[in-house]
Amino acid sequence: MTARVLTGDRPTGPLHLGHYFGTLRNRVELQQRGADMFVIVADYQVLTDRDVAERLRETVDGLLLDYLAAGLDPEGTTVFAHSAVPALNQLVLPFLSLVSVPELQRNPTVKDEIQHSRQSSVSGLMFTYPVHQAADILFCKGTLVPVGQDQMPHIEVTRTVARRFNERYGPVFPIPEGLLSVAPVLPGTDGKKMSKSRGNAIALSATPDETARLIRGATTDADRHITYDPSVRPGVSGLVQLAALCLDRDPHEVAAEIGDAGAAALKRTVTEVVNEFLAPMRARRAAYAKDLDTVRKVLRRGNERANELAEQTLAEVRAAMGTVY
Ligand code: TRP
Repeated sequence: MTARVLTGDRPTGPLHLGHYFGTLRNRVELQQRGADMFVIVADYQVLTDRDVAERLRETVDGLLLDYLAAGLDPEGTTVFAHSAVPALNQLVLPFLSLVSVPELQRNPTVKDEIQHSRQSSVSGLMFTYPVHQAADILFCKGTLVPVGQDQMPHIEVTRTVARRFNERYGPVFPIPEGLLSVAPVLPGTDGKKMSKSRGNAIALSATPDETARLIRGATTDADRHITYDPSVRPGVSGLVQLAALCLDRDPHEVAAEIGDAGAAALKRTVTEVVNEFLAPMRARRAAYAKDLDTVRKVLRRGNERANELAEQTLAEVRAAMGTVY
């Protein structure tokens, strides 16, 4: 049986190289190996940490362009949005009955997000979104969920919900597996984790000049001898790692080749390598950007397929629960 892969993103802004090496690359590979790929644009999850989701239309267009630029197949991928699939959202209600409030309060990722939240108080959605995420995965009977480490608690919630539902009402859901991405956390241009909110991220949509400027401003140190030693030299090592990932080479080798040429030479190399790496993605992006209608059609088609599946699953759920009147 081919795996049904479900994963996705909150539409909060442009995807960057951290996303690419952390998950996008993985998705494209899984798809090339024949997985049935579902990608959710988690537009209701955006509301967990802010009161209003701003400029969603634009952000979602950008996200679709990023997916296609990264190489996801527009024919073979089911891209869809939370808000467009009512039956998916309806699954959240019975699912909520299967988890306890203390279980929700113990979720380490949610706890961390609450600490960094932009809301003045914690919303109900914040505590319950992992259950919503279980519906994202289970509505299409996803079996494989490629995610980063921070999402693993949500996969656990999903497995718990599926198991408890099956025990209480009969076998409806497969128990999905998380697929942890093997890529290390990619540091941004300040040596800390690449993240849009830190201003240290190279977006897939950045121009060659913007990329050069970001890398020129990267944090380095005074030692002219370039080495790869992340714990001692996070700035320099982050740049080395970035070049190594783009070249698919060992970072120690990349560092050794620059040797005593210093940080300026390192930055020149990284800029060149990153720009070369991003060139085909930029070309694809530019081509799709000229034809937004086609891009939006990918989402519309995905929404249709997601709705069909969600309605089927909801029908099974209602039959199992004895709520078909
Ligand atoms: N929580 C994920 C994130 O913030 C996005 C997401 C929503 C997701 N639903 C999902 C990921 C289902 C995997 C599966 O990145």
